[in-house]
Amino acid sequence: MERYITLEILRVTEAAAIAAARLMGKGDRKDADRAAVNAMRTALNDISFRGKIVIGEGERDEAPMLYIGEEVGSGGDLEVDIAVDPLEGTNLCATGSPNALSVMAVSEKNGLLYCPDTYMEKLVVRPAAKGVVDIRASVKENLEGIARALSRDIDDLVVVILDRPRHEQLIKDVRAAGARIKLISDGDITPAIAAIVEGTGIHALMGIGGAPEGVLSAAAVKCLGGEMQARMRWRNEEEKQRAIKMGMDISEDKVYTTDDLAPGDDIVFVATGVTKGDILNGVSFFGGGARTNSLILSSKTREIRFVDTVHVFDKVGKIILR
Ligand code: FBP
Repeated sequence: MERYITLEILRVTEAAAIAAARLMGKGDRKDADRAAVNAMRTALNDISFRGKIVIGEGERDEAPMLYIGEEVGSGGDLEVDIAVDPLEGTNLCATGSPNALSVMAVSEKNGLLYCPDTYMEKLVVRPAAKGVVDIRASVKENLEGIARALSRDIDDLVVVILDRPRHEQLIKDVRAAGARIKLISDGDITPAIAAIVEGTGIHALMGIGGAPEGVLSAAAVKCLGGEMQARMRWRNEEEKQRAIKMGMDISEDKVYTTDDLAPGDDIVFVATGVTKGDILNGVSFFGGGARTNSLILSSKTREIRFVDTVHVFDKVGKIILR
């Protein structure tokens, strides 16, 4: 990806994070999401490229903006595929809780899985545990493999799981195997990144969450050299029909690897914190501006950047795009 584009992408998640952060703790998740979507779309259309949204706010008939298939950008020769989550953790933002983010991944054409807005079973592990897990195996076998690969006992491991009734059996199985659990209320992209990075105290992410968040997580996992495995979990017949139209194999047994979810060679992943979290600080406002904290990952250069930006607003309190 050309370097100037990375900076332009950063401006997109920064703009969305600032817009969402203005509504932090106001109790209206949809309003915060709408603000992030508007800001993200405006910033995206300011970039000179031809981008296609492959992971977005939903299907064309249900999302007025940033829908799957929408074309964005102001034109030019560079063609890219884009996965966005303008506000990851809408509830987290609405309640002022940690780990709300604005997230985006950009790749060369066909570098990110084109898939409908559905659910996905996910397993994410560190680079050292690559090749020792299989999402089809039992929880116990996978935890034994991770423990061996990380030279730890199973009871030293911490697995992040979304706190949902559908995970009752998974939670029992992880506890029965001896590992510890960090239950989260929302937002499984941050723990997917934390599961890859040493020193975070997180050793795996397991369970079913959003497929869009899954593809975005895979983009980050690929840049960081970890491993992700996934299986689609369709909620209804309509989702399956949409997937068939997109050319997907709808078998729930099909295992997607990191490379199936994020096949691109040239992927850039960017996240800006909305609320302070495990990896990023949230947006902080001051008279006349705001400060943001972002993470930029690149699959090509393997660089990991943390970027702090001070934004000076124009007279009407808007971020200045150009
Ligand atoms: P939103 O940003 O749309 O609120 O989604 C947050 C999230 O927690 C994701 O991180 C996760 O993958 C998904 O929702 C889980 O879905 P559900 O809340 O339906 O279990």
